[in-house]
Amino acid sequence: MKDIEAFRFQDGVLHADGIAVPQIVESAGTPTYIYSAPAIRAAYQRLDKAFSPLRVRFQYAVKSSPNLHLCRLMHDLGAGMDVVSGGELDRAWLAGASTADMVFAGVGKSDAEIRSALDGRFHTLDGVPGLEEREPEQRGPVGILNAESTSELERIAYWGTELGVRPRVCLRVNPDVDPHTHEYTTTGKEENKFGMDAPLIPDIFDEWGRDRGVDLVGLHVHIGSPVPQVEPYAEAVEVLLGLVDELERRGHKIEVLDLGGGWPINYVEGQVPPLEDYAKRLIPLLGERVENGLQVLMEPGRFIMANSGILVTRVQHVKKGRTKTFVICDAGMHTLIRPALYRAFHFVWPVSWAGEAPRLLEDPGLPDLEICDVVGPICETGDFLARNRQLPPMERGDLVAIFSAGAYGMSMVSNYNDHGRPAEVLVDGDRATLINERQALATVLATERTARELELPRPTVES
Ligand code: LLP
Repeated sequence: MKDIEAFRFQDGVLHADGIAVPQIVESAGTPTYIYSAPAIRAAYQRLDKAFSPLRVRFQYAVKSSPNLHLCRLMHDLGAGMDVVSGGELDRAWLAGASTADMVFAGVGKSDAEIRSALDGRFHTLDGVPGLEEREPEQRGPVGILNAESTSELERIAYWGTELGVRPRVCLRVNPDVDPHTHEYTTTGKEENKFGMDAPLIPDIFDEWGRDRGVDLVGLHVHIGSPVPQVEPYAEAVEVLLGLVDELERRGHKIEVLDLGGGWPINYVEGQVPPLEDYAKRLIPLLGERVENGLQVLMEPGRFIMANSGILVTRVQHVKKGRTKTFVICDAGMHTLIRPALYRAFHFVWPVSWAGEAPRLLEDPGLPDLEICDVVGPICETGDFLARNRQLPPMERGDLVAIFSAGAYGMSMVSNYNDHGRPAEVLVDGDRATLINERQALATVLATERTARELELPRPTVES
């Protein structure tokens, strides 16, 4: 399956699987995220197959596309969940995942979050209707907590003791490897806030690995996202394996290696090496250890979701400038922040188009195109979806598709300038399901409608 097969032009119009996109937005409105269930299944199966010799346990990175129905789909495919907050934990649980099948990562877990990961009770969703569908007391502690500092280890041990459970913990290693991705999504270099410096890990195991209230079961690494080259992964894994050897020499048993996520996708056809190249490089490094009982985990998000979703927006105005045309849409940085935040490239093309859409970085060389900025309604110059692109002429009312938007699109939406969150639709064959309603502004305003004076401690009067 090619990366964008789920979204193709047919009879002059973009289709999501079997359904014409204009039909979907006629009912759901714009802007709307549309996901393809077959594309999600195909991407997951491709991952599973590529790494099959390593018998990898996949933990879906909920943050990439957190919709409950998408999490449920991932759960049904057999994935566990990678969560990074109490909110994601509750969400993954509601989607059907068992807590034993979750890894809980994140550099700044609060006490409340650590506690909710261990005590099996809801916290962030207290009072939300529908929770009775699953018995919270059966929830139990998460499978693994990935700890990023000794300060966090102390809190995990504290809550473990307090609640009478023994948390299973992996230490997140900072291997000081450059993933060659955007600096804001680089996570495995020494100057980044994530993980613990690799040379410090053996002593931390010596100090914490025996009888301090936690079971240190393994190591975790995530060097960045997306990682557009194979070699940095291999380097990171080699750092981890060096540590495993040293730790085993010191008498610690390493059961789990969690290799994180970051598997890249083609935002433009042919941009990154195929996933199978990553697998080919990593399998020989890890194969024998897996045979000897090591459990490998991975936390993919983007690879599964990015090309399984598009964002559809409607042109509100077209403004002809002297040097270029501005196509002003109802989606913008509040709907998809990746172009503004990382200067990320998303292929953008009108929904009505007869022929192949040229998914290229450069000028596609078609006749009658014009240089356009595709922008949103937000009062910021950084509010753009695409800049200086050669695009077919567009008019007010036209629909535009932003491709490869299925990961880190909806999850990073904001209400900036008081826009409600977009709708989400899941397509499966010839069925389309509204899996998230467009957010009404009333919901955005609900927490501001009333105000109450805070009860502050009275100042003590000095006599
Ligand atoms: N595991 C950990 C510990 C992570 O921090 C992440 C992503 C993942 C797994 C999943 O990575 P994936 O397989 O999805 O690449 N907002 C950025 C991406 C930030 C990624 C954050 N962490 C973007 O839009 O590109």
